[in-house]
Amino acid sequence: MKSNRTNFISISIVGGTGRMGMLLANILKDKVETINIVSRDAGRAQEAAKELNVSWLPLEKAHQSNIVIVSVPIQETVKICKSIGQKMHEQSLLVEFASLKTGITEIIKNSIPNSVEYLSLHPLFGPQVKDITGKRFVAVEPTSGTLTTEFLEMLQEGGALIKKATVEEHDLAMSSIQVLHHFALITFSSALSRFTEANGLSEYLTESLEKTLQNIQNIHENWETIYAIQSLNPNAQKVREILAEVTRQSIDVKNIAKEPLHKTIKILRNPSKK
Ligand SMILES: NC(=O)c1ccc[n+]([C@@H]2O[C@H](COP(=O)([O-])OP(=O)(O)OC[C@H]3O[C@@H](n4cnc5c(N)ncnc54)[C@H](OP(=O)(O)O)[C@@H]3O)[C@@H](O)[C@H]2O)c1
Repeated sequence: MKSNRTNFISISIVGGTGRMGMLLANILKDKVETINIVSRDAGRAQEAAKELNVSWLPLEKAHQSNIVIVSVPIQETVKICKSIGQKMHEQSLLVEFASLKTGITEIIKNSIPNSVEYLSLHPLFGPQVKDITGKRFVAVEPTSGTLTTEFLEMLQEGGALIKKATVEEHDLAMSSIQVLHHFALITFSSALSRFTEANGLSEYLTESLEKTLQNIQNIHENWETIYAIQSLNPNAQKVREILAEVTRQSIDVKNIAKEPLHKTIKILRNPSKK
């Protein structure tokens, strides 16, 4: 991979001690010349860098790399991208991973110099994956630029699938894909946790619930991101209300139908014609 590229690539990952930061450092370390873990705390950066066998940099020097990936909590993304993006060299690339794009992509785009490339990416997988083969990223309104192209090609050569979308398309899709899905599991958990007398339930666990439980565990571990998506996605309240309405209607067994399952499989398995 390194040999096909024209640019020497040094990547700094701000928030590189976090779950997604460490995952991406591990995935990209064999594909570029240098990976630097960046943290607010030098000790934490050194520790994570040692574990992954990569380099580290203090936060004040992160902007010197020709690619800077910002992988910090959603609410901190704009602030960190603005402060680093404004100091980056011409023709360098700023990437952020926020799971939500309303109020993030446009603001960052407008607050960094035009000479700095900017890529608003959303990895559609969590830190539990081993590699990016077959994994999806949404590139939100990507602009043209040499490093942007090389970075996206590097992900594709690693087996990743890139979907391009606008901010509105991304957040509308994520209101079903993430808000609805997570909320259904959160409400399922709230209901299940009321059955406190159900001691010994774990011995009855089906394969199917084992899969659901893994998702519940992921939501529990990523709570900060999950809660931010529920709070900040502009369509979230409407989606939660639809789920509440459907749940209420479905209490009468006569209203429980097989058809929505078929429709859901069709919607989620069929690629769009666009
Ligand atoms: N987790 C997922 O499943 C997932 C999936 C797709 C996209 N994402 C996105 O990826 C990003 C990171 O998520 P994550 O789950 O990896 O989070 P995380 O594990 O909490 O890591 C975030 C890192 O950001 C740093 N950080 C925390 N607060 C900060 C602040 N105020 N200023 C600067 N740095 C700060 C911390 O590093 P130091 O304390 O060492 O500075 C921390 O290690 C989020 O934008 C999220 O939306 C997450």
